[in-house]
Amino acid sequence: MKTAPIGVFDSGVGGISVLRELAALLPGENYLYFGDSANAPYGEKTTEEVRQLTLRAAQMLFDRGAKALVVACNTATSAAIHILREKYPEKIIIGIEPALKVAADRFPAGHIGIMATAVTLREEKLHHQLERFPRATVEKIGAPGLVERIESGKADSKETEELLKNVLAPYVGKLDALVLGCTHYPFVKDTIGRILGDKTQLLDGGAGTARQTKRCLEQAGLLNPGPGSVVMENSLDDPHMLELSRKLLGN
Ligand code: DGL
Repeated sequence: MKTAPIGVFDSGVGGISVLRELAALLPGENYLYFGDSANAPYGEKTTEEVRQLTLRAAQMLFDRGAKALVVACNTATSAAIHILREKYPEKIIIGIEPALKVAADRFPAGHIGIMATAVTLREEKLHHQLERFPRATVEKIGAPGLVERIESGKADSKETEELLKNVLAPYVGKLDALVLGCTHYPFVKDTIGRILGDKTQLLDGGAGTARQTKRCLEQAGLLNPGPGSVVMENSLDDPHMLELSRKLLGN
């Protein structure tokens, strides 16, 4: 049914950066956003744990009638997208991926950074992706503790800036592009931009994921003309989480 919601899922509030792109491109859709903040961060868990949590969230969203599922979490996509597709072969499932192709198209022999969680950086999916761009030099950059800071509403604090300065210090002035390979990171994009300077382009997969969602719904004849709505839910039973979620969506 066209009016059924699009289920959007992340380990926490990060996927709201993707929801923003979806709502901008497809304002007529009804969205059901689920952030699993009670279990965040996913990026430090075992692959099996991420798989189980992702399957549980997907099942919940399909049980609630989602006509499509957007996995707005690079970590969950890396660990579980193939399993989701196997389990729900008839469903529309879109998974966000780091925007490495965009970076490598712009800088085929360039110096590219990918900043992502430990799971995303170690999973095979990324290694397969990297094999497609043999001429680029790619730096894998972890940012331990960053997701937790964004989850606790401290994206714009001095401590977050210090954390980012430490993580990015070896790359200042060196990268053509930095791929933000975790959906939480667009919420600190301005700070990253200030640290790395104008010479480094910052790229994320949010807009590409929204376009892919539009294509899939169009093909299935499931685009909703509107009016649209957004419902936000979070596994942490804490009113602050929903407040933070609304604030991030509004920004
Ligand atoms: N937002 C998620 C991603 O895109 C991961 C954050 C986490 O570690 O839970 O990778």
